[in-house]
Amino acid sequence: MLKILVTGGLGYIGSHTVVALQEAGFKVVVVDNLSNSSIKVLDGILAITSQVPEFENLDLRDKLKTQQFLKKHYDIFGVIHFAASKAVGESVGNPLLYYENNVNTLIYLLQELNKKKNANFIFSSSCTVYGQADVMPITEESPIKLAESPYGNTKQIGEAIIKDTCKSNLNFNAIALRYFNPIGAHTSSKIGELPIGVPQNLVPYITQTGSGVREQLSVFGDTYSTLDGTCIRDYIHVVDVANAHVIALQRLLNNEHQYNFEAFNLGTGTGSSVLEVIQSFERVSNKKLNYKIVDKRKGDVVTAYADTNKANSVLGWKAKYSLDDAMDSAWKWQQTL
Ligand code: NAD
Ligand code: UFG
Repeated sequence: MLKILVTGGLGYIGSHTVVALQEAGFKVVVVDNLSNSSIKVLDGILAITSQVPEFENLDLRDKLKTQQFLKKHYDIFGVIHFAASKAVGESVGNPLLYYENNVNTLIYLLQELNKKKNANFIFSSSCTVYGQADVMPITEESPIKLAESPYGNTKQIGEAIIKDTCKSNLNFNAIALRYFNPIGAHTSSKIGELPIGVPQNLVPYITQTGSGVREQLSVFGDTYSTLDGTCIRDYIHVVDVANAHVIALQRLLNNEHQYNFEAFNLGTGTGSSVLEVIQSFERVSNKKLNYKIVDKRKGDVVTAYADTNKANSVLGWKAKYSLDDAMDSAWKWQQTL
């Protein structure tokens, strides 16, 4: 059984990926400092796969402990690196936390992996690296624009650091997966997104409003230059995102990669407006959502959706689930909380 290290493996996307990896027959080791997750996620993973991954509570900002940990697990085939801080707004107020947590931890991991004969690395990147792209859909060749937040900058810097490492060491293979907007939960409703405090993202805010935890959703602006005036995003089921990591890993394992650094967009290729997402919720829940239009949110890009041709034809991955599927799973998950 090939051993894979998943950093941040108890978080939202990480936990779904651990499930997909275990189902695909990999042995998984998780490190997480539980800064944005709960140890109970292990129970959910066990309930779905009948296995628990090996788990170590480790803060990757601790360089020495990270080195020791990787030495102990010298036999891992690859690392999937999810651990990071991810709140765009928070990163504006506390940029140093973001540079430390997202950049330092990456460097410590790479330094240690770079000593191996062969290293395989999958990086959680984001469509934020494109900023407000001029042309839709966004391809992997779209220009990487000036980042709009320290968080976005950490993803750009992260990709650059990995790319340079790959250039300097041809035995270092990496794939950056640029997620668009992951939403939803595992179909079993045993794991899902656990936003701490008031959700910043649209879908958890909608499901919490639907279930009465929040009173009303604020829709940030309806005067954008889109069909209904609200912003457009490419919402992708988290299980599709998770499966892409397994496919990316198999690409490295089977030596199918064309370059030792590759990047792929993970989206559905379809853009949905905020109002369309609300309609999707109303369809799957049979409930009316209480919402009002308020001012635009600072820093929002108007439209972002993926060109998925490269992921489809080169990586061999395609999103299977629709917006309604993802919303249905998010709503079922909300009702278990
Ligand atoms: P998450 O916060 O749910 O998961 C991240 C996990 O990493 C958490 O369990 C947290 O406790 C852990 N972690 C954070 N810092 C750590 C550290 N120093 N040491 C050890 N563990 C640490 O986030 P997520 O939504 O699952 O995102 C995973 C990755 O995907 C992140 O890198 C994020 O930037 C990226 N991403 C997320 C989205 C999204 O919308 N969710 C979009 C694009 C990219
Ligand atoms: N929105 C609302 N009301 C809310 C929350 C969001 O109207 O209460 C709107 C936003 O204005 C935006 C859309 O819903 O138009 C989506 O917003 P999200 O906050 O859910 O998602 P973003 O596209 O702003 O950003 C998300 C993550 C980032 C990640 C990015 C790309 O928060 O970390 O997707 O992957 F980088």
